[in-house]
Amino acid sequence: MKHLTLIENLIFYMLLLLAIFLILKAIPGESGTIFRSKHDLSYLSQRAIAKGGVGAMNGVTYNDYGEVCVYCHTPHGSSDVAPLWNHALPNTSGYSMYRSTTIDTSIPSAPDGVSLACLSCHDGTVAVDSITNPPNTTWIDTGVHYRMSRETSGESCGKCHTPQGELAGLYGAHDATVKYLTKNLADDHPVSMSYPTVLQDPKFNIPPGTGIFPNGIRLFSGKVQCASCHDPHNPDEQNLEGRDPFLRTSKRDSSLCMTCHIK
Ligand code: HEC
Ligand code: HEC
Ligand code: HEC
Ligand code: HEC
Ligand code: HEC
Repeated sequence: MKHLTLIENLIFYMLLLLAIFLILKAIPGESGTIFRSKHDLSYLSQRAIAKGGVGAMNGVTYNDYGEVCVYCHTPHGSSDVAPLWNHALPNTSGYSMYRSTTIDTSIPSAPDGVSLACLSCHDGTVAVDSITNPPNTTWIDTGVHYRMSRETSGESCGKCHTPQGELAGLYGAHDATVKYLTKNLADDHPVSMSYPTVLQDPKFNIPPGTGIFPNGIRLFSGKVQCASCHDPHNPDEQNLEGRDPFLRTSKRDSSLCMTCHIK
């Protein structure tokens, strides 16, 4: 093989760098990690600025603790709804659960376990930065603590992120209404109920003994919870296999639904 000249070498390495850069750019988010996803609350303001938010959220909506995990987990003094849980929990009264005449399992009167952990932010009754154990490092208390609620004024993300919000349209804030679940869960896929036995409903696939299906869809102590379908640590961006926000498996061809349902 002929020796490359210095110039040829330079061109080669520049093209290589360009190729790596283009490949990295093509991957949405940082795939496979919670870092820089919408569940990285310490990065959210940067994300908003990148989208043209011009600091709309920076330091004025909630405390930036400078860590990712701390909004949800703590090494000590945790709650047991989810592993080492650190986020303040909502009051379990006042939820409307899914109802139907064809349901075969019994749905409890309130969500529990991991679902309650998700709802601690997504039902909009507790501020996103409301945690049991804040970090010992230096962080600034903003004095404002917004909730993911559909309310259109006050300390509510809905002030900007709903079409009717007081500051709606400010720098093009996206409509997040659908992500603010509220305490009305009657319009959501049921959660916190035990998975039916074959006798209760033969139209369900039998889960493995571990409660975890090969594609990652899983039960928690035999129950269907928000995290049965969602992995809160998986990136929110749609990835190459067509997986949607924080889902454990692809929705393509309804494979997610068919993991449990026989239809
Ligand atoms: C937005 C909330 C949230 C954030 C932020 C978060 N987690 Fe979690 N984590 C959860 C929930 C909910 C569960 C329980 C459901 C599950 O197992 O997926 C969990 C479960 C876990 C588990 C046990 C189950 C497993 O997947 O192995 C580990 C370990 C974990 N998280 C580590 C982390 C680490 C490390 C970080 C920071 C880099 C982090 N989490 C950030 C919500 C979060
Ligand atoms: C610490 C607060 C917090 C907790 C706890 C939390 N989330 Fe989120 N979640 C957020 C925020 C903030 C967003 C971004 C909302 C937006 O788009 O404006 C979000 C967005 C999402 C999205 C949509 C992502 C997208 O790209 O639009 C899903 C799905 C989701 N969360 C599911 C869950 C599930 C399931 C759990 C529990 C396992 C959970 N979240 C726990 C704060 C939280
Ligand atoms: C003062 C108005 C305002 C408030 C209040 C506000 N935001 Fe935002 N937010 C914005 C703007 C503007 C952007 C950039 C445009 C966009 O992507 O929506 C943004 C961006 C975001 C993004 C990034 C969207 C993406 O696709 O990258 C998330 C997630 C988000 N906001 C969540 C929240 C949450 C959670 C709260 C409440 C704790 C909140 N915001 C409160 C104005 C606001
Ligand atoms: C049976 C599976 C399943 C369960 C259980 C489930 N989800 Fe989802 N969720 C999905 C799917 C699938 C989507 C994507 C919908 C789409 O792309 O249109 C989704 C979307 C979302 C979104 C984003 C909405 C949007 O359209 O942007 C949020 C937020 C969310 N789920 C939160 C939750 C929370 C909180 C719970 C528990 C109360 C929960 N989910 C329970 C399957 C589930
Ligand atoms: C983790 C397992 C699991 C997954 C994944 C799942 N489901 Fe379900 N689903 C259930 C269980 C359990 C019930 C309660 C059924 C019963 O008791 O009759 C249920 C109930 C329902 C119901 C209400 C049935 C009724 O009789 O009122 C509908 C509709 C439904 N699921 C559709 C879906 C769709 C669509 C998807 C995919 C987005 C999906 N499910 C994913 C387990 C799952």
